[in-house]
Amino acid sequence: MAAFLRNCWYMAAWSDEVGDALFRRRIIGEPILLYRKTDGEVAALTDRCSHRFAPLSMGELQGDCVRCPYHGLVFDNAGTCIASPFSESPPKGAAIRAWPVEERHGAVWLWAGEASAADPSQIPDFSALARPCGPPLAGMMPMNAGYEFGTDNLMDLSHIEFVHKGSFAGAGVIFAGRHRVRQDGETLHSDWWMPDVAAPAHTLGVYPPEMRCDHWLDMRWNAPAAMLLEVGATPTGAPRDQGCIVWQAHILTPENETTTHYFWATTRAADHVDPQGDAFLRGLMQQAFEGEDKPIIEAAFANLDGGDFWSQRPVALGIDAGGTRARRMIEAMLRRERQPQPA
Ligand code: FES
Ligand SMILES: [Fe+2]
Repeated sequence: MAAFLRNCWYMAAWSDEVGDALFRRRIIGEPILLYRKTDGEVAALTDRCSHRFAPLSMGELQGDCVRCPYHGLVFDNAGTCIASPFSESPPKGAAIRAWPVEERHGAVWLWAGEASAADPSQIPDFSALARPCGPPLAGMMPMNAGYEFGTDNLMDLSHIEFVHKGSFAGAGVIFAGRHRVRQDGETLHSDWWMPDVAAPAHTLGVYPPEMRCDHWLDMRWNAPAAMLLEVGATPTGAPRDQGCIVWQAHILTPENETTTHYFWATTRAADHVDPQGDAFLRGLMQQAFEGEDKPIIEAAFANLDGGDFWSQRPVALGIDAGGTRARRMIEAMLRRERQPQPA
């Protein structure tokens, strides 16, 4: 059984996935029910009735409460059983777990540790996704691989040149660049700097195609696998803050040991929403993530056949330092979680 971090915020859903209906998603092996209360806030309960374990998500939302579909116990949004069809007062010991949840920047985040330790200020900052022209294009791609294989992929963008020939690959620009991994507290950065290259694809329609550009790909990582990518370009030599920049979220939430929810989002290079541009961008993202990243990540994961990553002695190439550091940081965090706490 894989160990997952507990003292950690996991992205559970995009905000617009949680509407009027009961919504179920398995996260770190736990069945989770998400729903909106009458005040619009999101509630999260373990999606398993304490009687005969029916998924409450198959039941009925009644105000801020949920009625089990099997024998009718009713639970409030704190997980307390408040009514039974079979007795005046609800049965003792029937409470189910309520999980702290917070909505930030269009996403619902779930705290997997002790509720009293939940600190929303630790939710990684994805405010860059909110642009004046509206919410980003976003989606969720189910992936048949352990989430750290996704982190390896994202923290080492050298794969662009090989994997993304049908989308992002840019005629060897990665190899003309400089790569740097640095750690700032518990935040990790894996940054590429590619000076004076051909205008990268994201500047299409903003810069003339013949323009020479300084181009950067800065990836920020927070545990367990919440990544923000800044894709930037300026006319060669111009300051970065005058650049053409898009931000992408790549947030990986383990469903269990072998499957992952890959949440993605991207802002637009232009400062307005254009349906044709959006359709093109969505197609490009689907091609890149579903058509290119997903098959290679899943095939590499399957190739280990459940074996332990480090015991297979992966070769280090330098450019993979970001993924390696992320794995090591998670291992250290897990060790800290397992240490007995002082009384
Ligand atoms: S399984 Fe929920 S009331 Fe019986
Ligand atoms: Fe990729």
